[in-house]
Amino acid sequence: MSTAEAFDADWLALRGPFDAAARDGSSRLVARLRTLRPGQGPWRVMDLGCGTGANWRWLAPRLGGEQHWLALDHDAALLRAWPLPADAASSLDAPLRWRGRGFDATLLRREAELARGLPSLPWAAVQLVTASALLDLAGADWLGDLVRHASEARATLFFALNVDGGHTWSPADADDAWIGGLFAAHQGRDKGLGPALGARAVPWLAQALRARGYRVALGRSDWRVGPGDQAMTTAMIEGFARAAIEQEPTQAPRVRAWRARRLRAIDSSRLRVGHLDLLAWPAR
Ligand SMILES: C[S@@+](CC[C@H](N)C(=O)[O-])C[C@H]1O[C@@H](n2cnc3c(N)ncnc32)[C@H](O)[C@@H]1O
Repeated sequence: MSTAEAFDADWLALRGPFDAAARDGSSRLVARLRTLRPGQGPWRVMDLGCGTGANWRWLAPRLGGEQHWLALDHDAALLRAWPLPADAASSLDAPLRWRGRGFDATLLRREAELARGLPSLPWAAVQLVTASALLDLAGADWLGDLVRHASEARATLFFALNVDGGHTWSPADADDAWIGGLFAAHQGRDKGLGPALGARAVPWLAQALRARGYRVALGRSDWRVGPGDQAMTTAMIEGFARAAIEQEPTQAPRVRAWRARRLRAIDSSRLRVGHLDLLAWPAR
């Protein structure tokens, strides 16, 4: 049975500005990453679970210099939904080129099923493996395979926007923590890459990489959703409630009551969602 979770382009577009602002909070990791540029040639980068390209749009200008990217996702509809300049070739076969101040990046989009496809990725040709909002969807076996392939290639890894389990609502509601617990349990379901580690993914990966001789640095990239962000706050409330009911159907009335209170308070609500970014590089 397929357990893969589909992400729609509208959700990725809604979260995009929150992701980008959050990642600015861990920009010291990018400063460190820039010092790890290997040799004289272009950075060769592989972006796993690229969706509609948010990681490339955020990282390519900050990475700087010449870059060759391979962006992979199993969802062809997302690969076709990238926001592209009007003059860009829309065919998936056509490489994209983006030049700006201090960087010159080309990119190929490719449909790839990562659940089974890790062994056939071009590890030997890659220096940087990156992803955003992917790790917490993955299970330990899959992450272990990722660590093995990446470390054999001595690749640098940079994984942004991985949930750490923290959700802080303000003002608080008595059922926030209860809902958060149901949401976390739901997050641990199999999303196609094994039973997901959710908030445990970053500590798990950091330990596995250190055991392989990697240095690891972490940074915070928390979402901050405020009273002016009603569409995002609504999406978060609905998402928490949906997951909580799926997780504990018998508690649906209590979940719906929480949802109603949260929606009534939306004009004055703030939400902080904890995320961690992880940078890892082989010790010389
Ligand atoms: C939360 S979205 C993040 C997308 C993008 N990186 C971003 O930051 O907006 C997770 C992405 O991983 C992709 N994905 C999940 N499981 C996958 C798999 N087994 N193989 C390939 N892609 C997968 C989804 O299609 C989706 O685009």
